[in-house]
Amino acid sequence: MSESFTLSFRPDISLTLEGDRLTLQSTSESLTLEHPKPGLRSALEQLLHSALTIAQLTALVVEADGVEAGLDFEADLQKLIYLGWISHSVLPLATAVPIAENYQLITPVFDWQQPLTLSRFAFLHQDNQQFVLESPLSKAKIILLDWRSSALIAKLVQFNSPFTLENLVETLIDAEIGQSFLKLLIATQMIPLEPETKALAQWEFHNLLFHRQTRSERLDDLQKSKLPRFEDREQLGVVKPPMSNRVIPLEKPALAILAQTDCSLTQAIEARQSIREYDDLPITLNQLAEFLYRCARVKEVYNLEDNPLNMGEFTKRPYPCGGGLYELEIYPVINRCQGLNSGLYHYQPLSHTLHLIADKHEVEVLIYDAWKATGQQDIPQVLFIVTARFGRLFWKYHAIGYGLILKHIGVLYQTFYLVATAMKLAPSAIGAGNSEQFGLIANLNEYEEASVGEFSLGSLKQTNDNPS
Ligand SMILES: Cc1cc2nc3c(=O)[nH]c(=O)nc-3n(C[C@H](O)[C@H](O)[C@H](O)COP(=O)(O)O)c2cc1C
Repeated sequence: MSESFTLSFRPDISLTLEGDRLTLQSTSESLTLEHPKPGLRSALEQLLHSALTIAQLTALVVEADGVEAGLDFEADLQKLIYLGWISHSVLPLATAVPIAENYQLITPVFDWQQPLTLSRFAFLHQDNQQFVLESPLSKAKIILLDWRSSALIAKLVQFNSPFTLENLVETLIDAEIGQSFLKLLIATQMIPLEPETKALAQWEFHNLLFHRQTRSERLDDLQKSKLPRFEDREQLGVVKPPMSNRVIPLEKPALAILAQTDCSLTQAIEARQSIREYDDLPITLNQLAEFLYRCARVKEVYNLEDNPLNMGEFTKRPYPCGGGLYELEIYPVINRCQGLNSGLYHYQPLSHTLHLIADKHEVEVLIYDAWKATGQQDIPQVLFIVTARFGRLFWKYHAIGYGLILKHIGVLYQTFYLVATAMKLAPSAIGAGNSEQFGLIANLNEYEEASVGEFSLGSLKQTNDNPS
């Protein structure tokens, strides 16, 4: 299989020679060879250019250093391939660049008459002025070097007239090169030879892509994650600047007294449930204030002593957050609350204040959407719309950033649930919301900050089981 491909180092890998010492350097690791023999040295230098196959490289080593050295070289090359340091090319069409470790090209047994189609998980996109084929099933990204490779890929999605090697000759490229290109796509799992398993069939394209991209870091992301400085302080400060000067100061609850009177953790966890029916007497401003204080206030602002990235200040809050960066913002939408006018507010967790940003008539649509999502039971008295200021995380947690935000939403929801239970309020998470609509009302740039979660809250119906 690999005889069809020429080999080269992954583009970020450099080779330096100092005297008799040869060093290979990737973004995260380096490998030094003392006194490399001439054949080995020349083969490694060839790997900077992607012109030779494994057999040709090994022949170079054998010719200069002997047969045994050739065998060692082949074994070492396999280790480099496994580490993801080696790209495979079919010139002039394409190069497969590893994006994950434990890299292996799959060597399939197949019949050239077999119809071939591109995997439904494969996708093409422009990256760094290159046309790149990727798939969450593949540990490689295929850089298309020539327009004919894009044309061949277009052929491979024509399910009605499936592509076989025989059709190739009619197309644009020398049959042998075309065959090697197909082999590369098969070896990197861009073309499946087997039907999808039941387990794979249940995956939507975007779910599998998101899963793969947000679990472990890709080899080609390591470069990016050499952390940039935390530059845009103004916009990405530790708390969002006040959004309006129509300020509602909030009471702070006496935590020492609550620590004596609250139900136990076990009782809170056991009693917690999603409740979408409310008492006629709505939640009060003081309850809302206590709820926000206990769930989401800034407890402390501090500086890291060892802060080489110049990241500015950090905060401590009641719920945990990756990197302590706290990107989530809470916007209470008030429908019915004793002591507070209806409308859209932003919660300032440092000053523990609410800032009115839109009046009731502008936000009715948000309440309506939430009501629909809760099965049209009682209309939520308070709806919390939670946004993320993406930049607070993305500069550091590049590829896993969005996944991390969703984890933070989960963490905040559970804090909301438990505090609401302890306070004898009626909480419910809401699984969907309209980010675009909210962005328009709150005047947000969707790529800087957008809603990522919704949660409803209200007063608990007074019954014999729920005395006030
Ligand atoms: C992430 C998440 C999303 C949810 N979305 C909704 C929703 O859109 N509408 C709703 O009425 N309940 C929603 N719920 C509440 C669940 O329906 C509820 O947690 C589940 O039925 C279990 O009931 P319990 O919370 O009373 O134990 C959601 C819960 C979570 C954790």
